[in-house]
Amino acid sequence: MSKLYITGRKRLNGAVKVQGAKNSALPILAATALCKGESVIYNCPVLSDTEASLMTLRYLGCRAERSGNTVIVRNDGLRRSDIPDSLMRKTRGSVVFLGAVLAAEGKAKICLPGGCDIGIRPIDMHIKALRKLGAVIKERRGCLDCRVPHGLKGCEIALPFPSVGATEDIMLAACTADGTTTITNAAREPEIGDLADFLNRCGAQISGAGEGTVIIDGVNELKGCAHAVIPDRIVAATLISCAAVTGGDITLKGVIHSHLGAVVSVFEDAGCAFKADGNELRIKAPERLEPMKLIRTMPYPGFPTDAQAPVLAAAAVADGTTVFIENIFENRYRHAAELARMGADIRTEGKLAVVEGVPRLYGAAVEATDLRGAAALVAAGLCCEGKTEISGVKYLERGYEDFEQKLAALGAEIVKL
Ligand code: UD1
Repeated sequence: MSKLYITGRKRLNGAVKVQGAKNSALPILAATALCKGESVIYNCPVLSDTEASLMTLRYLGCRAERSGNTVIVRNDGLRRSDIPDSLMRKTRGSVVFLGAVLAAEGKAKICLPGGCDIGIRPIDMHIKALRKLGAVIKERRGCLDCRVPHGLKGCEIALPFPSVGATEDIMLAACTADGTTTITNAAREPEIGDLADFLNRCGAQISGAGEGTVIIDGVNELKGCAHAVIPDRIVAATLISCAAVTGGDITLKGVIHSHLGAVVSVFEDAGCAFKADGNELRIKAPERLEPMKLIRTMPYPGFPTDAQAPVLAAAAVADGTTVFIENIFENRYRHAAELARMGADIRTEGKLAVVEGVPRLYGAAVEATDLRGAAALVAAGLCCEGKTEISGVKYLERGYEDFEQKLAALGAEIVKL
């Protein structure tokens, strides 16, 4: 099991290219199971989560090959419609294979997905919506047996909460359904728009993606296309946090500024200066951050829950108190206890974290227990006095491509051994 070793207090400086978005790549890879012929996905990050999707595609009968950040999927018809527990458990994102396989094969058998332990993460909205589209779903001992006896039929689906995964799953199932499907209270995350762009290029008829109401007019079939995944706004937010805690001055390359609005606004409050130029974003951090006052995680375009952990690490060294309210997942402060080992002053209760900024953190042996929590420990390690040793690196590798190398190129003293 490798670990990360960081010697802190090196100011980050320079330019870094931001990887493609994991949360776009996963549903787009699942969507290729529904698209006949060849799909070429550019800017697909090399991560354990995306590798799990490629393994699933191969298991289903597709050819899936990667050359650097380009993935080519050849789909001449699926050979099976079940996904074994071992593959489903690898990532939460795998749940969207349900909609894609069901639409492609008229049946699907999957076990409940895995992913990071950040709460209960039910899939009741997915199941209810797929049933409304015409699927007959039997649930037995954590596995779902789904069939479509009379074909999928377009319908109106009102989500009780704008779930990202449920919106994607419905879009996939509805693309080739008979008639029109309307999703109200749909998630508006940029990754929804990216999935719709991919599907539309394959022949789908989706409008309103990225807005609250998504309309999907069913078509007969989808044919693979070439598509570039959008940049990862959470990785960008993490890099901003890393620059912020080290008083750094870095330029993010290949980002979409409008996706980062809520995060940039918080760091502006903390005293960071931003300069946007085309698809570049420069951040210049002060010697000591100001507190960020109150941060509430919300569905997009609100402050993203996935950025809460790394930004909380930055708040830990700000000059005052920051309060976080985590509204999306109920168990998302596990990194706080590890940050406390480094000297952070954080109290959590339920949705709430109260962070009293301290002048300095100190290197310690800490353990990551989820993807974004791992990113928080890296950001904290970068500003610690002395050496930090981070175990649980596999969590970081679910979502961050060559992260230690990118940070080292910006001047951090960090190695993976
Ligand atoms: C996706 C992202 C994840 C991000 C999250 C919220 C991917 C692969 N993952 O996860 O990084 O943190 O969006 O932005 O894209 N819920 C239910 N029932 C359901 C579905 C969801 O109760 O059927 C709840 C969840 O438990 C959670 C909330 O709704 O409390 C939001 O979840 P959702 O938006 O679905 O997140 P994911 O798609 O799992």
